[in-house]
Amino acid sequence: MKSNKIRQTFIDFFESKGHVFVPSSPVVPQDDPTLLFANAGMNQFKPIFLGEQSPSNLRAVNSQKCIRVSGKHNDLEEVGVDTFHHTFFEMLGNWSFGDYYKEDAIKWAWELFTEVWNLDKNRLWVTVFEEDEESYLLWPKITNIDPNRVLKSGRKDNFWEMGETGPCGPCSEIHYFIGDDISKQNQDGVNNSDQYWELWNLVFIQNNRLANGQLEELPSKHVDTGAGFERLASVLQGKLNNYSTDLFQPIIKECELLTDSTYKENPVPFQVIADHLRMLSFSIADGAMPGNEGRGYVLRRIIRRAARFGRVLNFENAFLFKLVPSLGKIMGNIFPEIIERQAHIAKIIKFEEESFNETLTKGLIQFEKMISNTNGMIISGKAAFKLYDTYGFPLDLTQQMANEKKLSIDINGFEKAMKDQKKRARKSAKFDNYAQKIDWINVSNLKNSEFIGYDTAKCEATIVRYAFQDEKIYLVLDKTPFYAESGGQVSDLGVISNDRLKLNVLDVKIINDEFVHICEGEFSTEKLQKVDCEIDYKRRQRTKKNHTATHLMHKALKIVLGEHVQQAGSLVEPNYLRFDLTHFEKISDTEIEKIESIVNEEILTNTQLDVSIMPIDQAKHEGAYAMFGEKYGERVRVVTAGDFSKELCGGTHVDRTGDIGFFKIVEESSLASGVRRIVAFTGDKALERIQKMSSSLNNSKRLLNCNEDELEGRIEKLLKDKKELENQVKRNKSVGLLQDLDSYLSESKFIDDISVISKMTQAESIEELKDLGSALINKISIGAVVLGGMNEKPMLLICLTNNLVEDGYSAAVIAKDLGKQMGAGGGGRPNMATAGGKDENGLRLVVENGYDYLKNYFKG
Ligand code: SER
Repeated sequence: MKSNKIRQTFIDFFESKGHVFVPSSPVVPQDDPTLLFANAGMNQFKPIFLGEQSPSNLRAVNSQKCIRVSGKHNDLEEVGVDTFHHTFFEMLGNWSFGDYYKEDAIKWAWELFTEVWNLDKNRLWVTVFEEDEESYLLWPKITNIDPNRVLKSGRKDNFWEMGETGPCGPCSEIHYFIGDDISKQNQDGVNNSDQYWELWNLVFIQNNRLANGQLEELPSKHVDTGAGFERLASVLQGKLNNYSTDLFQPIIKECELLTDSTYKENPVPFQVIADHLRMLSFSIADGAMPGNEGRGYVLRRIIRRAARFGRVLNFENAFLFKLVPSLGKIMGNIFPEIIERQAHIAKIIKFEEESFNETLTKGLIQFEKMISNTNGMIISGKAAFKLYDTYGFPLDLTQQMANEKKLSIDINGFEKAMKDQKKRARKSAKFDNYAQKIDWINVSNLKNSEFIGYDTAKCEATIVRYAFQDEKIYLVLDKTPFYAESGGQVSDLGVISNDRLKLNVLDVKIINDEFVHICEGEFSTEKLQKVDCEIDYKRRQRTKKNHTATHLMHKALKIVLGEHVQQAGSLVEPNYLRFDLTHFEKISDTEIEKIESIVNEEILTNTQLDVSIMPIDQAKHEGAYAMFGEKYGERVRVVTAGDFSKELCGGTHVDRTGDIGFFKIVEESSLASGVRRIVAFTGDKALERIQKMSSSLNNSKRLLNCNEDELEGRIEKLLKDKKELENQVKRNKSVGLLQDLDSYLSESKFIDDISVISKMTQAESIEELKDLGSALINKISIGAVVLGGMNEKPMLLICLTNNLVEDGYSAAVIAKDLGKQMGAGGGGRPNMATAGGKDENGLRLVVENGYDYLKNYFKG
């Protein structure tokens, strides 16, 4: 049975039992920065299990895209080396949200396996949680399983938990014996031997594991089942290896076409490559990008691992990207994104492969050197760190290569080397350094340094401490309206004063969780208690416009360019906003216009912004954008602009989108590979910009004496006319040069019957010189022509008549010799050659002595 049919049968079966098909959630969770990848079908249903969200249907069926790259059952080093571990896999599942429970879940699983797919019940084994007497009794009661094939097992195997915390419950697993001889089965093999494959896990969700380790009862009981699709396909297609199924074979065959090796001879590299291609394609299709941190670094590791296994198959250049279309053919019907985003996926993989290939060769040589210097069985942490730091080898890749040579790596040593490097980096970061050196003088015991500037531009505050630092005055206040630089938004400026002091605030930084005002001005250590604070409100207003516009643009970028767009950096200041985003190609003019239109439309809608503090889970659930890898507290600040944009953000924002006034992108450029940078203006700055553009347009119209619509045509015509005129000048000059032929000929000198012309000319290009030379030599029956001309550098041309060439003379030899005399070189064909020189004087000398030189050449 083809895999597509297997998947469909599963879905159809549960639809016939009243389930509704729910599409897979993206493998890259868009709303959960704490989860690297979707790793189980139940991820998207978690809020339903916890009672935070009500389901639209009580029964669901789906096929979830999952990625597991680490964890106790999935070490990356096993993937591709054995035949059943994968980084990417599909999980088929059926769900009950407070509806049916154990009995139906068991009954239907057995019916599908034994009556629809006709799996041999004499090969099937079932395990139940040892404390779940109910399931233990249900199996033999409601199915025709042999009671001896129902086994009790402990918490490790039969109590399923999604993670440290979250929904969980007892589970019942169905295992399948794949051995040849069914008489050789033994209950001890279940969960212990590779001959018994776990095919389906039925989880009876009834508890929630709390952070303190305790289990609480959930308000309702649910069913969450998961069947590994690749294994199921393997069993139903009578294979003993997942890679032999039609889910992988077309990729492997395509790969075989690109190399001389065959899967049969050397299966492991093909398996690694096929597995990794799936993981990379699906994660990139859902918006992930290779990078140096978090999710991005997982992708980078996987690409590098595939590239290294590619070397085993003699792929010296990027190859993985060429396999992307083969995956589309296998899975595009159920996951169309893999076809829709094919070009994007291939481009990103290719780019990454190419950049790693540059260091891969050197790194492999370094590795060989390293192992020849290794004493004993352990590669030092320092050596592994060098491979990581200099050659970009992820630790797991070095580990894999070491394992293949039966060596291991000193992981502690590696981690220490990594820590030392981080320490060095921190030391060189100036700010950290001076933050530690501040000598504070305490004024009051008030501790809290509170920011109250969301709602107010001024306040009275009390000085908590001060310091003199770098000729500036540093102040910490009990409360402040000054926003400190963070989240890309620059700090407020303004004034802090009382009747003894008047300070201009130049910057505000967060140092050790306190807002530190960096000021200059009149300062006195007397009467230090109370001060009045007032921010530059106009400046703040401008900054607010740019911050809210940044949020609107972020959303517009995703709409226009795609969900893969991630914020890679941002600067919000009063004069402009700057936004760095992950995107692999230039953003076209049309795309820029679309982005501008969407943002301006939102501005015109004049939506009221909402700012709320809420639990992080709720924010995620509501789909708020967050920065991946950023640490957020339990409660977060969420800024919402209607239905359009929602982001976790601590910055200051306008009250209504209309306050932004107007938005204009003024620059789009490449910042680094895969990262674009946009600069945009808002409000009066945007207007100023438009006015400037308009005035330059008006000036152009005046200069060209035309209206706006005619402008482009005029400029095109001017450029065309200019080119034509240049060509005309060139032609005229050649004609002029050629008209002088007779005067050149009249100055011929003779060496016996050989005429010799050696002269400086007005030619300014080598073509002009050659035209003149050819015209002259054609007029001479036997002879040589030496012509000099000046471009930026000296040019010399030598032509000989063919009869001299036939006698064995060569213009090339002469050019080489004369070029040498001018301090450069020369060469060409025997009848025409050229030489260069250093300066005009050298050229003139050679031309003046041309006759004497040739006399020597022909007679000597
Ligand atoms: N949540 C369970 C698992 O991941 C069953 O779907 O195995």
